[in-house]
This record gives sequence, C-alpha cells and structure tokens, in this order.
Amino acid sequence: MENIRLQSADYEPTLPVTEKSNPLTRDIDRASASSIVKMLQACDAQMFQEKSQTEYQRLLSEEIVKTLMEVAERVRLILKDPQDSLVVLSGCGTSGRLAFFMASGFNRELQRLNYAPICSYVIAGGDRALFSSQEAPEDDPTLGALRLKKVSEGKKRVLFIGVSCGLSAPFVAGQLDFCLRHPDVYTPVLVGFNPAHQARNEPLPGCTLTFRSVVTRMEELAKTQKAFLINPALGPEAISGSSRMKGGSATKILLEVVFSASFSRTPVTFNGILQHMRSYKKALDFTYSHSEEIAVLTEAAGRSLQCGRQVCYLGWGSLGLLGLIDASECKPTFGADYEDIRGFVSGGYKELGNNEGDLTLMGPEFSISHDDFLDRVLPRLTDDDTVLLLYSDSDDVDEVAKLAHRVREKTPNIHAAYHQTDGGTAAQQDDINKLCSSTINFTWSQETPKRLQHMRELSTKLLLNAVSTGAHILKGKVFKNYMVDLQVTNSKLYRRAARLLQELSSHSESQSEEALLKAIYQVDKLSEDIMTCSLDTHTHTAGKAKKVVPLALVCLLTGCSIKEAETRLEHQPIVREAVEACLKSS
Ligand code: F6P
Repeated sequence: MENIRLQSADYEPTLPVTEKSNPLTRDIDRASASSIVKMLQACDAQMFQEKSQTEYQRLLSEEIVKTLMEVAERVRLILKDPQDSLVVLSGCGTSGRLAFFMASGFNRELQRLNYAPICSYVIAGGDRALFSSQEAPEDDPTLGALRLKKVSEGKKRVLFIGVSCGLSAPFVAGQLDFCLRHPDVYTPVLVGFNPAHQARNEPLPGCTLTFRSVVTRMEELAKTQKAFLINPALGPEAISGSSRMKGGSATKILLEVVFSASFSRTPVTFNGILQHMRSYKKALDFTYSHSEEIAVLTEAAGRSLQCGRQVCYLGWGSLGLLGLIDASECKPTFGADYEDIRGFVSGGYKELGNNEGDLTLMGPEFSISHDDFLDRVLPRLTDDDTVLLLYSDSDDVDEVAKLAHRVREKTPNIHAAYHQTDGGTAAQQDDINKLCSSTINFTWSQETPKRLQHMRELSTKLLLNAVSTGAHILKGKVFKNYMVDLQVTNSKLYRRAARLLQELSSHSESQSEEALLKAIYQVDKLSEDIMTCSLDTHTHTAGKAKKVVPLALVCLLTGCSIKEAETRLEHQPIVREAVEACLKSS
C-alpha cells in the first residue's frame, strides 16, 4: 500500500512520474552489490503492478491493452500495402537506440515470414547516436520533423511511433506535430510513461508549442483513432530520471507485443495481448531468480571502475547490440568516459545493418566489432578489467570459446551470461565455464523461438542495466538515488541538474541555476554576456566541461570558489563522498 502511495500523484507532486525519486532506492548509494540488485528487482517489478482506483493507467490496464490492439491493426494495414506504406520508429538517446533495435528486428522477422520489410527508424543525432552520447539534437523539433519527412518521402500511409519516455523530447514533439499537420498520410502513436497532463510544458525551441500541447491535440484525435497514446505509468526509475531502465524495458515490451500480434496469422485479441505482456513479467522474475549471480558480476564491474579500469561486453547477435546500447548511456547518466563501459558485437557493422553503414572512421568509440576489441583493447587488458560474454545457444559457441581463450590469457576476470533452452550442455560450454570466473546460465523452457528471443533480450537488458548502474553506484557516482554527475548536454538534463542542486543544497531556484552556470563557464562571477546566452549555448558549453554538477554543488554547500571546489573534488574524487563531506560541514 505504502509502495503504491509513494508512486502516486501526491508524492513529489510537481514532478512527472519519470522524474520522481523512487522511495525504494533512496539508500541505493550505500547498498552492497547484492542489495542493489534486489532494489532494482523491486523497481522493475513495479512495471507490472496493477492499477489501484486512484492511480494512473498501468502497463496491464484495459485501456492500454485496447490501444495496443488498435495499433496492431494499423500495422496490419501497412503490411498489406508495403509498397506505399511505412512504419517509422523514432526517439532520442536510448529510446532512439531501441527504435533502431526493434525496427531492424521486426524487418528481419518479416523477411523470415516472407513479407516485405516495412519499418524504418530515426534517431536524434543520426547513427553516431546509436552508440555514443549525443544529447543536443534531442532539443531540435524542426530536425525531428525533417528527418521524419525524409525517411517517409513518397509514402502514402505512414504509422509514426514516437518514443519519449518522459513525454519530453522536443525532437519527438516536432515529429508528432508534423504528423498532426499531415493527417492524410501520417498517423501518430506516442509511447511514453507519464500521464498526459504531466507532459513537458516548456515551449519547444523556436516555437510556441509545448510537448503537452501536442499531446492534448493527440488526445482529442485519439477519440476517433486518428492518433494513439500508449502512456502507462511504471513508477519512478531506480536512479531518478534514468529512463533507459524501466522506460526502455517497457518500450521494448509494448512494441514487441504490438508487432508480434500484427505479424501473427490469428486475429488480434485482448487476451492474446494481455497474456503476451504477462509472459514478460515471468521473464523478469526468471532473470532476477539469478540475482546473487548478477550481484557477483556487478561487484566485479564495480571493482574495475573503482580502480579506473574498464568493463567490456563481448556479445553476439541482438544480445551484443544490447551491450552497445547499455554502454552508451553511461556517459550522460554517470559522467562516465566512453572507455569505462564498452560494448562490442560479433560482426560489427555487418551485424547492425544501420542506415549509415560502417562508422569506424568517426573515431575510436565507433569501433564496435570483436576484431576491434582484439586489436585495440585486448593488448592492454589487465586483471583489473572485467569482460562479460553475452551469448545464447543459437550463436556460434565455438567462436565464443575461442574468444574466451584469448581473453583468459590476459585476465581471469572473465564472466559469461549464457542463454540456453532446456536440454544438455554442449562440450564447448563446459570449456567456457572453466575459463570464466562466473557464469550465469539462463535455462529457458520452450517458447516459440521468436518469443524466446525477445525474452532473452529483455533478460539481457535487465542484467546489463543492473551491472552498469550497480558498478557506477559502487564507484560513488550516485548520491542517494540521484545521478549526481550527469552531463548537462540538453535542456532536459539542464533542468534536471538545476532541480537536483536546489534539492540537495536547499538553496533557492535562482541561486542553484547561477551555481550551475558558474560551473559550466568555470567562473566565480557571471558576466552579462553569460547571463544573456541561450540555453542552447549553456548546454553546448557544458558538453566540454567535466563534473559540472558536483562542482556547482560543492560551491553552493561551502560557498567556495570554482577553483577551490575543483581542488576539493581532486582530493576526493568519489563524488558521493565529496558531496557528503560538504553536506556534513555545511
Ligand atoms: O537526454 C538524454 C536522455 O535522458 C537519455 O538518457 C534518454 O535515453 C533520452 O534522453 C530520451 O529520453 P526520453 O525517452 O524521455 O525522450
């Protein structure tokens, strides 16, 4: 009951659900690896909690299931006319990465079923944002609309599915608005995890619209099925605002349920959809039935980060892709370096099939194949680095064994997460087990092959979110359940940072924002010039600085200069401890 109250409207009433702090994880920063995993489990389980009378609609609510049925029927219409029709999935950050992940997966599945591919994706910042942190394009509604227009050029019917977990990204709002202005071709679907009235109400850059005003227009059209809103509340994220976690998982669940129903040759039914959703709950419970093993892995990853070394995910197929996605979000969330947690996938860009092809030449962070790992990372690997193999019995286990041998020559700190179906274990698997210091063996009972793959993917996502979040917590990158070293590289992150400073320092809103600006521009006094710069300039400048929020907080709590705050943080590089020390002395 308490749990439900704390997720409801009267808890932190000024914040939307996706930005609230979750009472279940208030002490996550001081928890052991095993308690961290248990807290994440409790938070993830909230996704499937049923609705109480006064509550917002939830994942399993009747309204949501009905909307999913309607959207599945729309996808069916597109399937009948692949020449002139298209489904476009789009989003920013992890929402855009999942748009890519699912569009590619659905197209592959369609080809297997002898249908023409019908899905495209748009990610804010283009393909480089698939595995690197590019937050600024999220603020551009015009760019969003242009990218959508370009990808759907010449089509007569387009189902646009925009994902913004917080109902907040201007890029997506611009796309939805574009659809609403061209109803003859476009039908918009919005996926997010706040009730409509909590959609962001700040004017979109360059116009008077807000995300909320776009949602209000969609709500009106939803009455006649000319637009669709899929926006169940999931409860606040384990790390406040970290929508890659539950938000990302629920996005994957919802869209897979819709597409599976529309690809099936049987009618779309309420119970069919509901049962499918419930099977993900089973997958979640099954994943966390391995929580002690997940904690071992989290602890190993945390040790590597604590001593300034790295964690590498070496994956195969879609599980490898999930490794890339998980790793890429650590930079904005925890102020991490791209090398702290890195993903590599067997086959690299060939496996990906992304719009812009091979991006290796764009810089070292775009090297994503196992060959790149062997050339660039393996030679420098030490016992302090952690390597995690991600694969299943449908991958080339011989190849996994070979790579495991190569890694084991450099470090004993190699681990595996292996998915298999009921049945015996291949000889190579025994070999891999012997090489690894821990193996999580997920043995799934028979499901249809496609569903099984989706469940394994969700399970891998949960596992990786736990490992990367837990490792950064153990490194001291989280204070209470706040991301205290976040990057301030777009307007949402800027507002989140200012709010966090106000919350932690108990200073006024204006004092907190001033401190933030001083830390961004590295000055003790704000000039007229700085004060009149646009938010865009602030976030652009913040992208070049490090530890902006910790610096601002130390200044606010101690009244010291930026230089002194820098020295303090150099002496106490563990951000959580630096913050605590200041709080004690303030
Ligand atoms: O701005 C960065 C970020 O917060 C990512 O962490 C997140 O994946 C992305 O924005 C998208 O957020 P949303 O889905 O709420 O639009």
